[in-house]
Amino acid sequence: MEAPKISHFLLLCAICPNFVVLLSAFPCFAFTSFVFGDSLVDAGNNDYIFTLSKADSPPYGIDFKPSGGQPTGRFTNGRTISDIIGQALGAKSFPPPYLAPNTRANSVLKGINYASGASGILDETGVLFIGRVPLREQVNNFEESRYDMVKIMGENKTKEFLKKAIFSVTIGSNDVLNYFQPTIPFFGDDKVSPSMFQDFMVSNLTIQLKRLHELGARKFVVVGVGPIGCIPFIRAIHLLPSGQCFAEVNELIQGYNTKLNGVLDQINQELGPEAIFVYANSFDIFTKIIVNYHQYGFANANGPCCGGYFPPFVCFKSRDASRSSALCDDRSKYVFWDAYHPTEAANMIIAEGLLDGDKSISSPINIRELYNYNS
Ligand SMILES: *[C@@H]1O[C@H](CO)[C@@H](O)[C@H](O)[C@H]1NC(C)=O
Ligand SMILES: *[C@@H]1O[C@H](CO)[C@@H](O)[C@H](O)[C@H]1NC(C)=O
Repeated sequence: MEAPKISHFLLLCAICPNFVVLLSAFPCFAFTSFVFGDSLVDAGNNDYIFTLSKADSPPYGIDFKPSGGQPTGRFTNGRTISDIIGQALGAKSFPPPYLAPNTRANSVLKGINYASGASGILDETGVLFIGRVPLREQVNNFEESRYDMVKIMGENKTKEFLKKAIFSVTIGSNDVLNYFQPTIPFFGDDKVSPSMFQDFMVSNLTIQLKRLHELGARKFVVVGVGPIGCIPFIRAIHLLPSGQCFAEVNELIQGYNTKLNGVLDQINQELGPEAIFVYANSFDIFTKIIVNYHQYGFANANGPCCGGYFPPFVCFKSRDASRSSALCDDRSKYVFWDAYHPTEAANMIIAEGLLDGDKSISSPINIRELYNYNS
């Protein structure tokens, strides 16, 4: 497998002998991002592993224009939040999934997506889905990409390049889901307290953020966990009346988000202006959308557009997306695409908030400011 990859980037160098020169001037690679996380931002990695967590069949991707509506492994009908933010900042293409054949050598300069559905901060998260790439392994994979970059442009240019790139980390939802999963035989009995679980999440995440920093990352977006207590899956298994969220889940999440925000503040102070960690408050934006859904132009903030209202919530696997009986009529009117994930319409509002929002949404600066930030 190595040989084709190497020849591929040699070919690239042959096509573009001024590669390194181009790079230092950045005329064609204006925006670069490296994406880490779970199914909220997976752009197809799970298509390449053996897992129960896949979005490789219609109607997933039905509104994703670059694929002509074919599934890409994204767990939504269209673009993810990081796709939308990248486009808004001028990215010409979406960072390809790390696990796709050909990704390694030819795309390091476009950024890479390492995210994996069902994965979590903690290694054991998502075990019921069998295959997934936990955050620690995602960072290992980035380390591999970094070797490729150094081979192409040397250590110093790699450092310069990474300093300007945005590293986003969107993870933690599956850790929370697993914590509340009643039927896992191995962890069911001696569950740690919610407070200790939050601390495990924050400290394990911090270890991976510091590793990325050591590898040269300087501009970070760390996305907090959204209101998982309100997703159709949790509402249904707890038999909650329409419009209600499961409070215990959301309380654990809010405690985690507060602790995470505090640790990021602390890291920002320790490291000074050479690095910046932005905390993205997806919890508040998403809660606002669910509560005021009419104001945002939605007709339904309760059930999923695809997959029906009851377990097991299979977003219908049909060869012909338009004939899928389990699909809602107007996807732009639903907050939830399936029982777990927002629609592209909801992702657009969240992305807009993170990009240009005030300090209550994105602190200490928003993502547009982060993009323009120069240490
Ligand atoms: C890389 O940077 C270091 C320190 O800034 C410098 O000493 C070294 O000469 C540089 N190497 C190259 C190949 O430019
Ligand atoms: C990371 O999480 C595990 C539980 O999965 C925990 O045992 C461990 O102590 C945590 N590590 C740190 C540094 O907190």
